[in-house]
Amino acid sequence: MKALLLLVSHATVLAIGVALGIYLLPILIAPPAPSTAQLAAQAGAAQFTGQFKRDLKDSDMLHWGEGTVSIGRQTIALAGKLAPGPDYKLYLAPAFVEDVGRYDAVVLGSGVYAGHWLKPAKEFVDRHEAALRERPVFLFASGPVGAAPKEADEPPEMRAAASLIGANDHRVFGGRITGSQLGPFEKVIVRIVKAPLADDRPWDDIADWAKEIARYLDPESVSRRVAPPAESLVEVG
Ligand SMILES: Cc1cc2nc3c(=O)[nH]c(=O)nc-3n(C[C@H](O)[C@H](O)[C@H](O)COP(=O)(O)O)c2cc1C
Repeated sequence: MKALLLLVSHATVLAIGVALGIYLLPILIAPPAPSTAQLAAQAGAAQFTGQFKRDLKDSDMLHWGEGTVSIGRQTIALAGKLAPGPDYKLYLAPAFVEDVGRYDAVVLGSGVYAGHWLKPAKEFVDRHEAALRERPVFLFASGPVGAAPKEADEPPEMRAAASLIGANDHRVFGGRITGSQLGPFEKVIVRIVKAPLADDRPWDDIADWAKEIARYLDPESVSRRVAPPAESLVEVG
C-alpha cells in the first residue's frame, strides 16, 4: 500500500514538473523584448495599426492582450501587454468578430490538417451556432495537394457544421504545401505520408465561388468592391 502511495505521489509530482516545464520553457528562453525606441521606430514605419483589447467576451486570466499593434512590411510589433504565453499565433483580420449578429452573411473556412478542420473554425461554429443558423453561411476547406479534391477529403467537422447550421454551401479547394511554411514536426509528417510539395490552390475556382456568393447576397453589386469593416484595423497615413 505504501509503495503504491509513493508511486502515485512521485508520478503526480513528475507530471506536474513536466507540465510546468512545457509551460515555462518557451517563456524562459524567449528573446528579450524590443526597446521602447525600437517599438517607436516600428510604429513610425507601420502601414496599419490595430488595438488589442482586454475586455473581450472570450478573454480570461490566461487569454488576453492589450495595446497597439503596428503592422509594417517586414515586422509586426505590439506596444502593450499579453497574457503570460507560453506560445502565440497571430491572425490578422480586418475586424475581430465577437458578435456575428452585426454581419449579413458569413464565409468561414480553414486548412485541413490530418483530415480535420482546424479547431478555431469548429469552435467558431459552436460559439455562434444560433446566429449562424439565421443568416447565409458558406463554408470551405483548403487541403488536398497533388490530386483534385474528392468527397472523402471534406473534413467531418465541416460536413457536420454544414448540416447543423444549414449552410448555403460547403466546398473543398486544393491547398498548398511548401517547405518553408512547415515546422520540423510537419516536415516529418509530410515526408512520412509522401505528400507532394506544391501549390494547388485553384484561384480561378475560388474567385468564381466568391462571385457566386456576392451574386447571391447582392445581385446588383457583384462588380462593386466591398471594403472590409474598418473600425479595428486602421490604415496609417
Ligand atoms: C502536417 C500537415 C498535414 C496535412 N494534412 C492534410 C490532410 O489530412 N488532408 C488534406 O487535404 N490536406 C492536408 N494538408 C495540406 C493542408 O491542408 C494545405 O497545406 C492547406 O493549404 C493549408 O492551409 P493553411 O496554410 O491556410 O493552413 C496537410 C498539411 C500539413 C503541413
